[in-house]
Amino acid sequence: MNLVVVSNRVARGKANEPMTGGLAAALLPVVEKSGAIWVGSSGRVREGAQKEPFAEIEALGAGALAMLDLPAAHYGGYYEGFANSALWPALHSRTDLIRASQEDYLSYREVNAFMARALLRFAKPEAVFWVQDYHFLALGAELRDLGVTQPIGFFLHTPWPARAVIGGVPHHRELVEAMLAYDLIGFQTQDDCENFLSYVQSDLGLGVQDGVVASRHGRSHVAVFPIGIDPEKFAVQAAKAVSHPDVSRLRRSLNGEKLAIGVDRLDYSKGLVNRINAFDEMWTLHPALRRTVSLLQIATPSRGAIEAYGNLQNELAKLISDVNGRHGEVDWTPIRYLNKGFSQTVLAGLYRTAQVGVVTPLHDGMNLVAKEYVAAQNPADPGVLVLSKFAGAANELDTALLVNPHDIDSMARTIATALSMPLTERRMRWEAMMAKLRAGTIQQWFADFVDALEEAQSDKAATEPLVPEPPTLWPLRSVNSSTRF
Ligand code: F6P
Repeated sequence: MNLVVVSNRVARGKANEPMTGGLAAALLPVVEKSGAIWVGSSGRVREGAQKEPFAEIEALGAGALAMLDLPAAHYGGYYEGFANSALWPALHSRTDLIRASQEDYLSYREVNAFMARALLRFAKPEAVFWVQDYHFLALGAELRDLGVTQPIGFFLHTPWPARAVIGGVPHHRELVEAMLAYDLIGFQTQDDCENFLSYVQSDLGLGVQDGVVASRHGRSHVAVFPIGIDPEKFAVQAAKAVSHPDVSRLRRSLNGEKLAIGVDRLDYSKGLVNRINAFDEMWTLHPALRRTVSLLQIATPSRGAIEAYGNLQNELAKLISDVNGRHGEVDWTPIRYLNKGFSQTVLAGLYRTAQVGVVTPLHDGMNLVAKEYVAAQNPADPGVLVLSKFAGAANELDTALLVNPHDIDSMARTIATALSMPLTERRMRWEAMMAKLRAGTIQQWFADFVDALEEAQSDKAATEPLVPEPPTLWPLRSVNSSTRF
């Protein structure tokens, strides 16, 4: 099997370099080991027609990383437009923030079609395609239109919301219908999976049996694959990282004070305003906690060209300055607020330093920060995870202190409870969470999905073909002889 993994963002970073995005950072070690070809955006755009869409192909572990310059004329409409101003808000149940023009939708479809044409280069007979995330909902259908018959799977890293919410996305029917060209569609949680199947049945009027949807494309298997991390590796990294200069400096600066930590992309789905309000409330309700605990909030800037993100950045900066102004002292800052990214190594050390991890999104596909915080803890004296019940991770990490991020008072009380939790209870909760992380590693996730994709393909081969025979278009392009692929 020749696995071809496709995502918008790819990772080239190493553990000591800052990395943006859960998906890219999570996939890097497993893709590296698997020998797969990882295809994604180079982060650059190119004007005009492209003879050779791949800007760079380089070795990645046992496989390769192939990066494309996406078409300049469509990039904005695709990334800032349809993907992140229509799909992202809808997938996170923020229909009020949906902004999409017809041009944005056309650009999104153009970029999906462009990626499909580029992928033909890797469409060997034994190829298996695995497409990641909401940037490429229509990529499977584009590949099928080009005659690709190999297995194609899709995994969504975000939530999939209720039917009515998806109904707020322009062209939602066309898009979901296109998704059914995938042989396997994976979601983070059972709720996401049920929401999707409910849409397919009610809005597309299609039959679903045992998680299999029958459509004009054939049979699509729909299942749950909660993404994990490598907890043992992360634990070793965290134990070592406490001597990293950034982490040592933080530790020295605390002077015996406790630390709570939040690490997020600066995104409205992360519940940052509510979290800051909860800390404000906690210091108001429990003045004794002033000077004894501070919050380190890292909020890495993200998608800055989109208005909703710029507004959030301004709102947060004002709110944090107000809270610091009211509760701070000449020698004490309640919230240390940083708008930059950190390497995995430094983050691991920061997580281990903090007695409380606050991961309180309003809605999140999984949230790997929650898992990393747990894995980074010192087993003899672990910290406490305060986790939103609306993060996918809450399904597994159910011995965290689960909170409703909309209930500020209760969040404030829960953070105070976390700070005073006795060691025996902290250990009991942490051990149960670690057991879950060990049972659902990123390696397991990767292997489970690929196995299920191969099974879905055999199932397709064994059943009546509903898909027309591929046209004789494939393979369309000659493979560049200077590369291995
Ligand atoms: O949640 C989906 C996701 O792909 C995350 O894995 C990642 O953190 C984020 O979106 C990346 O967004 P972007 O590539 O726009 O920075």
